[in-house]
Amino acid sequence: MKSDLNVLFFIVCTVEVSLLQEYCPTGCQCDWDIYSVSCFGAEVIPLFHSSTQEVWMVGTQLSSIPENAFSNLANISHIYISDDDTLKYLEKHSFHNLSRVSHIQLTGIKTLSHIDQEAFKDLPNLKYLGITNTGLTSFPGLQYIQSSQDDFILEIVENVFIQVIPANSFTGISENTLTM
Ligand SMILES: *[C@@H]1O[C@H](CO)[C@@H](O)[C@H](O)[C@H]1NC(C)=O
Ligand SMILES: *[C@@H]1O[C@H](CO)[C@@H](O)[C@H](O)[C@H]1NC(C)=O
Repeated sequence: MKSDLNVLFFIVCTVEVSLLQEYCPTGCQCDWDIYSVSCFGAEVIPLFHSSTQEVWMVGTQLSSIPENAFSNLANISHIYISDDDTLKYLEKHSFHNLSRVSHIQLTGIKTLSHIDQEAFKDLPNLKYLGITNTGLTSFPGLQYIQSSQDDFILEIVENVFIQVIPANSFTGISENTLTM
């Protein structure tokens, strides 16, 4: 009887683990070998599993990236959002307090015209921030990133409407070298 219970316990555990691994938000594909989730056409930020490490969102129609949108993902390291045609601005704390995030890329978001100066905040592990091909009209304030990484790379290109880079734009991004 005892061994039957052990077998049952084993089966229940196995089913739970595989259910966890099979969880994938609607409209997304998940590769749990590398904890990567790719989504197409999302209108709101999908409900990602807490073990997710990479998020790829393509062809989104987001109205916003809410405060602390990714903060339930303790191990998130890469966030890519591309080809959105509705996102107008990044709110305060959209990307906030993500201790393991190393790469964030936003590209092909023609409607994006404003980034709150605290949208990127407390990202100590950030190595790469790319903001390309957007409708930004002014250089985003990035002084709250506070990256401690050597060789932080900032790529802000093809934002046709940016005419001026204000003084002190680069203060506070990283304690170390900044590569552009
Ligand atoms: C985050 O990664 C660590 C190992 O690097 C692991 O022990 C932990 O369970 C992970 N957290 C989540 C929520 O998956
Ligand atoms: C930042 O995240 C850590 C966990 O990684 C949490 O303990 C802390 O409360 C968070 N701080 C804020 C200001 O949200």
